[in-house]
Amino acid sequence: MQIGSVILAAGMSKRMKSAVPKVIHPILGKPLLTYSIKTAQAVSSLPPVVVVGHASDLVMQAITTEVSYAYQKEQLGTAHAVMMAKDLLKGNVDYVVVTSADMPLIRKETLELLIKAQLHNDGPMSMMSIIGDDSRGFGRIIRSKTGNATAIVEEKAATPQQLRIKEYNAGIYCFQSDWLWQALEKVDKSAVGEYYLTDLLQIAVETDQAVKVIPLPDAEEAIGINNRIHLAEVEKILRRRLNEAFMLEGVTMIDPERIYIEEGVKIGQDTVIYPESYIRGNSTIGKNCEIGPGTIIDDSTIGNDCRVLKSVMEGAVLEDHVEMGPFCRLRSGAHLASHVHMGNFGEVKKSYLGEGTKMGHFSYIGDAQIGKDVNIGAGTITCNYDGQKKNKTVIGDGTFIGSDTMLVAPITIGSNAVTGAGAVVTKDIADGEKVVGVPAHVINNKKEEGQVNNND
Ligand code: UD1
Ligand code: CA
Repeated sequence: MQIGSVILAAGMSKRMKSAVPKVIHPILGKPLLTYSIKTAQAVSSLPPVVVVGHASDLVMQAITTEVSYAYQKEQLGTAHAVMMAKDLLKGNVDYVVVTSADMPLIRKETLELLIKAQLHNDGPMSMMSIIGDDSRGFGRIIRSKTGNATAIVEEKAATPQQLRIKEYNAGIYCFQSDWLWQALEKVDKSAVGEYYLTDLLQIAVETDQAVKVIPLPDAEEAIGINNRIHLAEVEKILRRRLNEAFMLEGVTMIDPERIYIEEGVKIGQDTVIYPESYIRGNSTIGKNCEIGPGTIIDDSTIGNDCRVLKSVMEGAVLEDHVEMGPFCRLRSGAHLASHVHMGNFGEVKKSYLGEGTKMGHFSYIGDAQIGKDVNIGAGTITCNYDGQKKNKTVIGDGTFIGSDTMLVAPITIGSNAVTGAGAVVTKDIADGEKVVGVPAHVINNKKEEGQVNNND
């Protein structure tokens, strides 16, 4: 038995008031269409058929998973949209599940329930309804005296009496494939000039065929997105679901409503996330970490046992046992090896800080390769930009950089070297050398403890 799926995504969505097509507005960092694709993929082994039309190029560019596309040149209604998928599915599948791209909350369990109902239905279609007080502009389901569904009336066309009906069409269907394609031919234009998919219910009933209407177990799933208020509402629900999944996997969240994590992020057990933390893009966090409060992590990798307090990371890597913050910024290419300590107001870009290196306060390190156990004194700056290009700084293991040192790159400083407070270093320093002054000059070839400022 083969199941095919169709996702309707061709509509214009004027109410978003946006230059961007509605279905690719991001929710938790992913185009909202990807949620219905993922759900459809879960119930079918064939790629879902996405019906595109309005701004189809932009929509197709935004989707990276495997789907098939059907093109609906003019948006002539939901029945017409499904018809566009006929060539891709007819003869290849037994059943066709139809959903809409603007309803990302539908769960795979719901589609499974619908498919199961249709498998036990002698008639040609099953569909989901919503029962409740909030009509949200949905079509009303008309039932006969015996309780069978007989028609769907769109809100625009409903009589005052029909408007009082509290059972609505969720817009989620499962059809017998052969029946669907020939029934679609029978749909007439509605009063507003559109071909309505909802007419299929009446077409089935008119030929005495059974239609199953199953109420959605959780009406929340039917929330669709028509404007940006709905977008925020849906995002909040998806965020809650994702955060709950993290918690069930062993991540502690302090006030999860104030934690913003995107789909696809990975977090290890016993990590604690504090409020106002954003973890986005291709980011991975290890075990036993403490993240936040007030931290932004984009496209970054963090090892185990790290602490990142009130800081920003973009395209950066932390190995294990790294401590940073508050108020640090790691930019692209920053790599802090294990046991690095980075205190307040530091910035690191495109640089490697070796194991155990300490950078306690107010420093800028850019385009640098720094060894192990280096002490970077308060206010140290790599002067990496000469007005034309970026230049590299290299510092060997065990070196002590005194407070307020300016390292004028390109420059290489050996291992176990020392710079005095306020030194402006313009020439390379050999292993074990000590330099002071402006410009810095060598005063002594041995590192002597206690002669330089230490900011620990
Ligand atoms: C539709 C149903 C309504 C149901 C509601 C549930 C119809 C006629 N009405 O109304 O009974 O309560 O869904 O959400 O089906 N689309 C196309 N091409 C078109 C027209 C629409 O691809 O020519 C797409 C839209 O982009 C959207 C989906 O189909 O993703 C639903 O269309 P929309 O116009 O939003 O229908 P509703 O008014 O929500
Ligand atoms: Ca809709």
